[in-house]
Amino acid sequence: MERTFVLLKPDCIQRRLAGRILARFEDKGLNLIAMKMLKVTPELSKQHYAEHLSKPFYPALESFITGGPVVACVVEGLEAIRVVRDLLGATSGLKATAGTIRGDFSSSRQMNLVHASDGAEAAAREIALYFRPEELCAYQPTLTPWFRAADEG
Ligand code: CMP
Repeated sequence: MERTFVLLKPDCIQRRLAGRILARFEDKGLNLIAMKMLKVTPELSKQHYAEHLSKPFYPALESFITGGPVVACVVEGLEAIRVVRDLLGATSGLKATAGTIRGDFSSSRQMNLVHASDGAEAAAREIALYFRPEELCAYQPTLTPWFRAADEG
């Protein structure tokens, strides 16, 4: 089982797409184990996007990500980090394959609706940035036996 961090960005909330996008993760059989609405501060943005701080697009990214409420989530499942990235599609909504979340709902590179961790190290770091350990609510969903066979993990 893997855990990954998902952030529904301000464009997702403002466009009232949160429910439909969360449903994609639920439909896939992933488990939502933590969720909170918050406003990202400039300090949190700099920590979250530390690897992009020196990029030319960082100032615009910070003003976008701090510009409205977001919903932070932890999603759990088999190969959850890759599976969630595949569900999102390519960074740019214009390039993302139809059928992915960004391919279906976004036509922007910056306003691409959702962020998800790109690896195990990023997932651990980002989950810890947004959640205290006691805010993660792991549970055994009763439908699991109807999503995958017992020997699949
Ligand atoms: P995300 O997956 O959250 O990771 C970094 C974010 O920066 C990305 O999604 C986009 O919102 C934004 N981003 C990435 N590349 C660019 C770019 N070239 N111009 C503007 N914003 C970008």
